[in-house]
Amino acid sequence: MDNSKKEVILSGIRPTGRLHYGNYFGALRHFINLQEQGQVCYYFIADYHALTTISEREDFYRQTLEMLRTYVACGLDPNKSVIYRQSDLPCTAELTLLLGMITNIGFLERGTTYKDKMNKLVEDNDLEGNPLSYGLLGYPVLMAADILIVRADKVPVGDDQRQHVEMAIDIAQRFNYRFGETLKVPAAVSREALRLPGLDGAAKMGKTEHNTLDLLDDPQSVLKKIKGVQTTTDPLPLDTDSNDPDVIIPRMPTSLGVLYRLLSLLAPEDVYLDFLSKYRRGEKFYGTLKTTLAKYVSEFNAPIIERYNEPGNNDEFIISFLRENAKKVTPVALETVETCRQAMGIGHSIYRA
Ligand code: TRP
Repeated sequence: MDNSKKEVILSGIRPTGRLHYGNYFGALRHFINLQEQGQVCYYFIADYHALTTISEREDFYRQTLEMLRTYVACGLDPNKSVIYRQSDLPCTAELTLLLGMITNIGFLERGTTYKDKMNKLVEDNDLEGNPLSYGLLGYPVLMAADILIVRADKVPVGDDQRQHVEMAIDIAQRFNYRFGETLKVPAAVSREALRLPGLDGAAKMGKTEHNTLDLLDDPQSVLKKIKGVQTTTDPLPLDTDSNDPDVIIPRMPTSLGVLYRLLSLLAPEDVYLDFLSKYRRGEKFYGTLKTTLAKYVSEFNAPIIERYNEPGNNDEFIISFLRENAKKVTPVALETVETCRQAMGIGHSIYRA
């Protein structure tokens, strides 16, 4: 098929090591869907970006390899999607520098990530010399370079990254306005923004919150984690006849909501509906709810764990496709950087030609 007619999709993921259900239902399953629709998909591990939050040295390379093994086990296919590491495309850094020249500091200071951190420092009265890094302030410029360098049409991200994509669109438009039509202006697309609550009932499942259900959890830990979910709260009356999880779950005490959300994602519909009617009747059923759910979770995990452990899914395999895919994306990226250099007036790189 002619690639020029296909849409280019790009998304980045920070290297976090072990993957949890929040990652899967928030992002990974959408990446796999897009891949199966036959689009040109670029998915990269944002290891440069990860450096904006290090407090001590972390082994991002190791975490990247682990994470990619899980991605592959879930069905992301390095032969169908171009999966690479951000730092294997170092010309991204050159584009970041070029874009930085036309990006106002005031514009970056309005970025929510930066603003939130800044406000926190102000609150804690800890602003002495502004300890926030140049890299953190420039986070959206690096992200714009990621997106623009492959001429992405669409950038599927969750709500928390939407503003960053909008900033990338803004930067591209500003560049084109100043230097002539050079960069492809992408569209932000929301993916179905399912934010999974944590097992502790917190609004978000997250690694740093230690409230995750992981894709590689074995049946024993699954059961233990699910049994540990607080269910001492009484059911709240559901003032609706709807069975739609999006309507029902916000009306439940949060920790029960987690169980029902997972059940709606993993169990056959009749099982979910059966437990919902038990809830409505106020029966005592949490024990069976938990063991039933644990069974579906373990069934979901089993093939992933199996593929994760396949002998072929090893470091050599990951490294070899990272290398191949970095080779695939490099020519596209270099061409973008070269056209930007040309447009800005410094001309082509002599040594690259
Ligand atoms: N900032 C994104 C996150 O934290 C990751 C990311 C980096 C990204 N570059 C990107 C996402 C480009 C989409 C497009 O999740």
